[in-house]
Amino acid sequence: MKRLSTVLMLFFAIACNNANHKENSKNDSVTLLSRGAYQQDVMGKKVDLFVLSNKNKMTVYITNYGGRIVSVNVPDKSGTFVDVVLGYDSLKHYFDRKENYFGALIGRYGNRIAKGKFELDGKQYQLAINNAPNALHGGPTGFHNQVWDAKQIDSQSLELSYVSRDMEEGYPGTLTVNVLYRLTDDNSIEISYKATTDKKTVLNLTNHSYFNLNGAGSGTINDHLLTINADKFTPVDSTLIPTGILADVAGTSFDFRKSKAIGDSVNSSSEQIKNGKGYDHNFVLNRKTASDMELAATVYTSVTGIKLDVFTQEPGIQFYGGNFLDSSLLGKKDLHYSYRTAFCLETQHFPNAPNQHSFASTELVPGKTYQTKTIYKFSVQ
Ligand code: GLA
Repeated sequence: MKRLSTVLMLFFAIACNNANHKENSKNDSVTLLSRGAYQQDVMGKKVDLFVLSNKNKMTVYITNYGGRIVSVNVPDKSGTFVDVVLGYDSLKHYFDRKENYFGALIGRYGNRIAKGKFELDGKQYQLAINNAPNALHGGPTGFHNQVWDAKQIDSQSLELSYVSRDMEEGYPGTLTVNVLYRLTDDNSIEISYKATTDKKTVLNLTNHSYFNLNGAGSGTINDHLLTINADKFTPVDSTLIPTGILADVAGTSFDFRKSKAIGDSVNSSSEQIKNGKGYDHNFVLNRKTASDMELAATVYTSVTGIKLDVFTQEPGIQFYGGNFLDSSLLGKKDLHYSYRTAFCLETQHFPNAPNQHSFASTELVPGKTYQTKTIYKFSVQ
């Protein structure tokens, strides 16, 4: 009996050691998703899984449920493919597991609106309070939970469209949205957004992909080196609503003007780090032009040698360090998506702009077309 328990203990020790090893090394296997696991009717519409691939054999899997990027397989420095985004193996897990907006298209309003209230032309609008006491990411039935109409244009591009009815999730105007995902031969994912409305409304579209450049589920991202092209950020109150001030990053934990490990000051005692429970802040991008495509951020890890450059036409970027992920979360290939094992770089207008009139306007009026583009470019170094 004693021998048996010793053998069992030894077995557990080896198993745990292996599991820990998996947590801290790279996860270098390409994800092969089953299309069937995504093909289902949801709200009377057909959900499917689409794949984009380029001449370098890079692949991007996207479902029209929430317009979500499910998997991005990029070559690392040794040519091995690594899946660098978080997501689920099957559609049903987007319903039965915790909502983290994995890979989703976010709308109508990415990020928070204070108390879920705003005013347009003297009229008050009230949104759902889904992140008490505020509204977050377009509400419970925001664009991340809608079935988009999908048209695969060719092997490298997918067009998604969605018509959001007047007063859907409390926002005025019928909004027609069109998003083009394009995988280019230089290993970039281009996301082009377009929208029109029939009544004045507010709008702030983004994509909520979570990245881990050592492979989804391979452990912390605190060793990733981050650069953000921003001299200023928007400090927040304890509910993550910007105070309205544009603060200098110089001398703070938010200075990523030169490449710095994400983990360097993620546990600092600064009030802003406490408010965000780590990094969950909007950076004010340094821009040479009002809205041309410019480099916003770069992330690099020496483990795989994978580098991500984010280019955008937007004025801001939300850097979120995965503070709400926890090890109970089982992702693709049954890997655990633990605390701070992924980061998001959500290009956007500033949070709460509808109530903070010193921020660039997020209003869209009939007759005008909202148009913006963001590029996530992968390379090795
Ligand atoms: C955004 C928010 C975070 C969090 C994540 C999703 O990035 O800023 O606070 O809500 O989405 O968990």
